[in-house]
Amino acid sequence: MRGERLALYGGKSVRSVPFPERFLIGKEEKEAVNRLFDQAMATGAAIGYGGPEEEAFCQAFARFMGGGYADGVNSGTTALFVALRALDIEPFTEVIVTCLTDPGGMMPIVMNNCIPVIADTEPFSYNTGPAQIEKLITRYTRAIVVAHIAGEPCDMTGIMRIANQHKIPVIEDCAQAHGAKLRGRLVGTFGSLAAFSTMFGKHICTGGQGGIVYTRSQKLAVKARQMADRGKPFTLPPGTSNCVASLNFNLTEFQAAIGRVQVKKLPWIIRRRRSFVRKLRRAFQNFKTVSIPEPLPKSEPSYWFLRLRFHPEFATCDKTTFCQALVAEGMPVTASYFPMPHLSEWYRARRVFGTSGYPWSCPDYKGKKDWSFPCPNAIAGEKVLFRLSVFESWGESELRDIVKGFKKVEGFFRK
Ligand SMILES: Cc1ncc(COP(=O)(O)O)c(C=O)c1O
Repeated sequence: MRGERLALYGGKSVRSVPFPERFLIGKEEKEAVNRLFDQAMATGAAIGYGGPEEEAFCQAFARFMGGGYADGVNSGTTALFVALRALDIEPFTEVIVTCLTDPGGMMPIVMNNCIPVIADTEPFSYNTGPAQIEKLITRYTRAIVVAHIAGEPCDMTGIMRIANQHKIPVIEDCAQAHGAKLRGRLVGTFGSLAAFSTMFGKHICTGGQGGIVYTRSQKLAVKARQMADRGKPFTLPPGTSNCVASLNFNLTEFQAAIGRVQVKKLPWIIRRRRSFVRKLRRAFQNFKTVSIPEPLPKSEPSYWFLRLRFHPEFATCDKTTFCQALVAEGMPVTASYFPMPHLSEWYRARRVFGTSGYPWSCPDYKGKKDWSFPCPNAIAGEKVLFRLSVFESWGESELRDIVKGFKKVEGFFRK
């Protein structure tokens, strides 16, 4: 060990003031919401849902996606739930899903009474891949859910090849990946449907919560709308009654008004984050203890955060100590990104519908009852991968401080 005394051990930290917030919400969002208030107060009509604001928000988002259909819903979780329901999957069948995802990326499967079959990640990646998925396909598989974690695209070419071979629909969970591309094509346009989150921490928001179901199929778009709003018929003749049971997942006009403004900012947000990472990548080239792993070839991530890799073979400490030292220097680092819903209490205790153990315990489920999902790649990845925040509001001084902080910690712990 050598170099300057680390803040972790009583030295002066590189960054004494916190990194700036995102300033995601501005005057335009405030004015958009105020306009609705003004209208309501002038006309006396309360502010609703499914009106002109949502229409404009969804059209703007579909334009951003290069066409297709978008429906605003009240979270990324419900977007995935609705996407699954739009596929009309029979209960007690299997849905393959990536192991490393938000609970909201897996729970909609069991809430649809389907069995989640859990795919490992690719080695040292946060994303699953075609090889991990293919092994899990059975005659009961009815859908595949992949998530583009941290905004890095999954290998959709390989995944779609396998899915098409087996005629299994794919849902892309784009909660963390608005605007990411693979081979020039936006994620969310590969599968049958896509689920986006517009919760306040995501690339763009619709207030505190929100989501979007996206599809290029008009038929699936109608289905999704029905499933998002208590089975209202929408395109069926007037007088037709609600055609399927579902819940009410609508976005409000207030949320859509914010979202409409936010969609305009999305290309700028993506560009700023990409440019920041490009510069970081150059600056990190000579580090030994840490690297920025390359994303998939021909991909253009839309960074939600940046995946970093610790190299223990070049360090005198473990990943946890390394990250603690970075945090003490004021670096925007989180040592662990390991959301594995199937290791949680609800999954282990099969706690979904009372004490029934459904969907797994239902006699109508004919698949493997004792299937376990050890996910060795994800576990090995967790030992060396960690996350660095990257916000579009950050510029040269934040970049300088991050490089300085990492240099200091590398200097101290490098073998
Ligand atoms: C991959 C993934 N899927 C689904 C969700 C759920 O989205 P929401 O929080 O909007 O319900 C998230 C949220 O972080 C996510 O990261």
